[in-house]
Amino acid sequence: MTTLFLMVGLPGAGKTTRARQLAKEHHALRLTPDEWMIPLFGESEADGKRDVLEGRLLSLALEALRLGTSVILDFGCWSRDERSAIRWLVESAGASCVLVYVPVDPETQLARVAHRQSTTPDQTFPISEADLLHWRTLFEEPDAAELGGRDIGSPPPGWPGWPEWAADRWPSFM
Ligand SMILES: Nc1ncnc2c1ncn2[C@@H]1O[C@H](COP(=O)(O)OP(=O)(O)OP(=O)(O)O)[C@@H](O)[C@H]1O
Ligand SMILES: [Mg+2]
Repeated sequence: MTTLFLMVGLPGAGKTTRARQLAKEHHALRLTPDEWMIPLFGESEADGKRDVLEGRLLSLALEALRLGTSVILDFGCWSRDERSAIRWLVESAGASCVLVYVPVDPETQLARVAHRQSTTPDQTFPISEADLLHWRTLFEEPDAAELGGRDIGSPPPGWPGWPEWAADRWPSFM
């Protein structure tokens, strides 16, 4: 069965490193937004463009699954709703979705970000320790039930379904 591996974790946790290994092991297509954002725009966020890019990559991922190719979606996915939406879409495409959570403690994270900045500055951007600490408070860590694939549940109140929620979260998703 084709599978979408969804990478989850904070910046510098080691997601892309793990994603590269998984892509090799499973002969899967790896989609890493930074590898598009940085060559296209010279930065990782660029004024909402990342959300637009991710919508296109998500559509591409679902198309690959329908064609029988497994995918590593290297998004980070800090919010539970983002993960639920992607899981719903993947299962609707007839594939299975595996969350790959890459946890990291603050000290290791800081060291990895510094290591990456010094070894591959062209593939990254400077991140301050204050940012790392702030982002950690925004991250919704997946719990055991979610990692075990419990029921996806409904989208937040007011949304008819996960596809509509996804098209709002990632403009250009269709
Ligand atoms: N298991 C590991 N042990 C030691 N170093 C690691 C490990 N995983 C990744 N690294 C190093 O840590 C740095 C960050 O890793 P990586 O780029 O994979 O993180 P990331 O989660 O993809 O970050 P981002 O969200 O910013 O894209 C890199 O320099 C990488 O070589
Ligand atoms: Mg990465």
